[in-house]
Amino acid sequence: MSTGQLVVLDHVVAVLTAGLWLAAGAVAAAGRTRVALGLAAGGVLAVAGRLALVAVLADRGWWFVQEKVLVGVPLLVVAVAAAAVLAGRPLLRGGDVPPAGVTALFAVGYAALAGFVVTYVGGYPLTWSVALLAVAGVAAAVLVTAQAVAPGGGATPAVGPLTRRRFLGIAAAGAGAAGIGLAFVRAPSADAGGGAAAVHPAEHGTPVTDLRGPTTPAAGGAVQTYSVTAQRSTVALTSGREVDAWTFDGSLPGPPLTAVQGDLVEVTLRNEDIDDGVTIHWHGYDVACGEDGAPGATQDAVAAGAEFGYRFRADQAGTFWYHTHQVSHIGVRRGLYGTLVVTPRDAVPDDVDLVLPVHTFDGVLAIGDDDGVLAPDAAPGASVRLRLLNTDSEPHRFGLAGTAFRLAAVDGRDVRDPGEVTERALRLPAGGRYDLTFAMPDGPVALTVDGEVRLRLGGDSDPATGEWPELDPLHYGGPDDVPFTLDTDYDRHFTLVLDRGAAMVDGRPAFAQTVNGRGHPSIPEQLVAEGDLVRFTVVNRSLETHPWHLHGHGVLVLARDGRAATGSPLWVDTFDVRPGEVWDVAFEANNPGVWMNHCHNLPHAEQGMMLRLRYDGITAMAGGHGHGAH
Ligand code: C2O
Ligand code: CU
Repeated sequence: MSTGQLVVLDHVVAVLTAGLWLAAGAVAAAGRTRVALGLAAGGVLAVAGRLALVAVLADRGWWFVQEKVLVGVPLLVVAVAAAAVLAGRPLLRGGDVPPAGVTALFAVGYAALAGFVVTYVGGYPLTWSVALLAVAGVAAAVLVTAQAVAPGGGATPAVGPLTRRRFLGIAAAGAGAAGIGLAFVRAPSADAGGGAAAVHPAEHGTPVTDLRGPTTPAAGGAVQTYSVTAQRSTVALTSGREVDAWTFDGSLPGPPLTAVQGDLVEVTLRNEDIDDGVTIHWHGYDVACGEDGAPGATQDAVAAGAEFGYRFRADQAGTFWYHTHQVSHIGVRRGLYGTLVVTPRDAVPDDVDLVLPVHTFDGVLAIGDDDGVLAPDAAPGASVRLRLLNTDSEPHRFGLAGTAFRLAAVDGRDVRDPGEVTERALRLPAGGRYDLTFAMPDGPVALTVDGEVRLRLGGDSDPATGEWPELDPLHYGGPDDVPFTLDTDYDRHFTLVLDRGAAMVDGRPAFAQTVNGRGHPSIPEQLVAEGDLVRFTVVNRSLETHPWHLHGHGVLVLARDGRAATGSPLWVDTFDVRPGEVWDVAFEANNPGVWMNHCHNLPHAEQGMMLRLRYDGITAMAGGHGHGAH
């Protein structure tokens, strides 16, 4: 079973355990011992199942079980032992269960419930605060229950000796108070990933705004000058459906930007009337940090009426995109994005080269602005390149039917020796890109997106691609030299455990999307030094997919779930960490700056799942984390 499935099953069994024991308590209190015995027996089985699940999950990684092993399971075991002692005999003999026994049955239910809440709301890493609150909660519930089931309503005398119950009450109150107090302990502001601490004070380095792009193209390159205007517009998709959009230049998507490798790209962004402000982030393009378009980190958002100039050299050839990074969970969704394609200087162009950004507008899927089926020309024998881009926040599943094809590039980086495949589906993470190449056959070719035909070449066909197995880019293409592997000695190693849980986001309590138990801006920034080899271990404890995205650097995928990637070196800027998965990736810190590092499910980023990676000696913009800076 996959770790993701085990996590779900663990949730289910935890709730079931709680339900069975609470019911056993209630039924025993009503004097129906036989039924209570049955429920308790079921409860014992559920507890055993829970323990087995925790053992299996522990094998998948400590991250998946820490809070269960340290809090949930001990609470449960103690409560079951108490129930055995206090209720076991009467239950088995069929007599009335005494009040203490009834309370103990309830206590097992409370313990199971507390374990579930600690897992679901507290998450990883376990804090003293959460542990103490869980213990206090169970103790308080036990006290109230004992009170309620005691003969005669159980009024305790207002004064009296230090009874067991009173002692428990004081202990529970103390633990609860300590737990609440500890919740306000500040997190450290930086994580050095096991490497050297900062040499430069954070405030007195080179301002990130000084890190601007070059002013000249490479030898032989040209200067490509663009100017784009962010504006609200009503745009009609090809079906006639109108979208109340935020656009670049009034179109959906924004203007396609192109360059030849080595060109200098200069883009002036003007904001006409987007009141929330706008920036341009060059997704996957390793520009100088001052050009990165991360509001609050590398520049101020461009206010309505203002403008900002970006400049970078088109050193990377491939398929990329650009999008606003200000309130991006709204701005990108509504249309503030476009494609950026850089072609190699000496390449022979493909006969048919299609740029296909897939986006969902108001629940309707479109490629470009076409919400129907595209049907461009392609003569038999033509060399075809399809550049698939996912500009949504969820993954899309593609199928290319009617031809064998190659996955020629992932995230704008060429795959080494891409072999021909047929009838393989491709799952493209949010923000990611795949280039598919093939020679146009005599018969029709169709591209499906999430099972529906969206593009036809050379005639009609209606293939069913839903059952195709997925191509796994971690085991595709031919091997090549790589600068680092799982065995490399890294200067820094950061672990990012992704989950949902109670955390502060932008100063407000929330059921957040968390990294190591925190939401932005309280996630410690990651500190690196120029030249470091850096490894990330990204763990997904949650029930949702998280497309992880680091700005300013491509990362090399080392392994998934502990199994090394084989095939072509896989360099990506966005990788989908599905529920229960553990990814190891690495990069060289060779692009100084302050870089956003976040989930590219943009609502998740908004709900907390975003942090920064800062180079020692570089200072972020004053004002720190601006709200909406994502
Ligand atoms: Cu494409 Cu920070 O994003
Ligand atoms: Cu996410």
